[in-house]
Amino acid sequence: MFRPSRIEIDRAAIAHNIKELTRRIPQDLMAVVKANAYGHGAVEVAKIALENGATMLGVALLEEALELRDAGIEAPILVMEAQFPEYAGVAAEQGITLSVFSAEWLREAAPYIEEKPLTVHIKVDTGMGRLGLRTREQLDALLEEATDSFVVEGIYTHFATADELDSNLYYTQQERFERLMDGLHERFRYIHTSNSAGAIRMAGQDVPYNLVRVGIALYGLYPSREMETFYSFLRPAFTLKSQLMQVKRLEAGQTISYGATYTTSADEWIGTVPVGYADGWLRKASGFEVEVNGIRCPIVGRVCMDRFMIRLPKEFPVGTDVTLVGGNVAIDELASYLGTINYEIVCQFTSRLPRLYV
Ligand SMILES: Cc1ncc(COP(=O)(O)O)c(C=O)c1O
Repeated sequence: MFRPSRIEIDRAAIAHNIKELTRRIPQDLMAVVKANAYGHGAVEVAKIALENGATMLGVALLEEALELRDAGIEAPILVMEAQFPEYAGVAAEQGITLSVFSAEWLREAAPYIEEKPLTVHIKVDTGMGRLGLRTREQLDALLEEATDSFVVEGIYTHFATADELDSNLYYTQQERFERLMDGLHERFRYIHTSNSAGAIRMAGQDVPYNLVRVGIALYGLYPSREMETFYSFLRPAFTLKSQLMQVKRLEAGQTISYGATYTTSADEWIGTVPVGYADGWLRKASGFEVEVNGIRCPIVGRVCMDRFMIRLPKEFPVGTDVTLVGGNVAIDELASYLGTINYEIVCQFTSRLPRLYV
């Protein structure tokens, strides 16, 4: 590795988060490691999660499930996004569980399944308006279509507003799910409804669900500010660091970066940091602050593809560490600066930034 810019993932923080979650949540825990484990590295995070109490893995794509299988991970994996029926055979062969949502899908998939049956979880749409069946008739039709080629192992739904404490939709979705499930609870080995926010909210309640799908909390991040008041034991695992590559003194009146949007107002020390929008450090981060030796320094001028410039309070040696995210620069702070959520921040960094596990 030649470049000094890297994402450091704190293994102990992920292990801590999983242990604290499993201690509080009575249900089995599925570690959601889709999108390269929210940018943290799917294979590494999956291993840490399984070693510390997770029993299942959740991904969005069949490709993501196959990456885990290729790495020798044998735990059950649920693919949560819809897949085309013609890939049912690949999933069955690899022991990967798919999400299904219509009788037609099973009919079309059946010819592709050979010796091993395909394990499926049924996805119910109770209020997200995206993937899933919506009525009991659709559910009954699907169950009828489930021939020997399929093992119908689970059924689930996904909340749209579990992270909003005063949302009626959260309770409405639960009611809709229970109405649809009437008399069917015994039919499924796994019934699951909760993401991180829902899992923690339901922790003390007697619910007929035995699995939770936890993503963002594994990584030590809160699903929303409101949830932070609900529980506070998480430790973030993600830090983005680089180093100063050039430090120079510019006299007053000098412009910086494309568009010359920043002009030095006095003699200023300017440092160059080799991370840019091609790494996922967005152009919109211009004006945000990063940390050098414990001191917050503003980004001056526009973020370029491969680097950006900061104003230093004094001369620092080339090679001084710069923390872009993590430590005192919270992911949530960057998220609110960019007008987005922490989920999007950790997912946005590209593979150009190596992930180091510390
Ligand atoms: C179906 C489903 N379940 C669970 C999760 C995990 O959610 P969270 O990261 O909020 O725990 C996601 C993430 O988007 C999801 O799509």
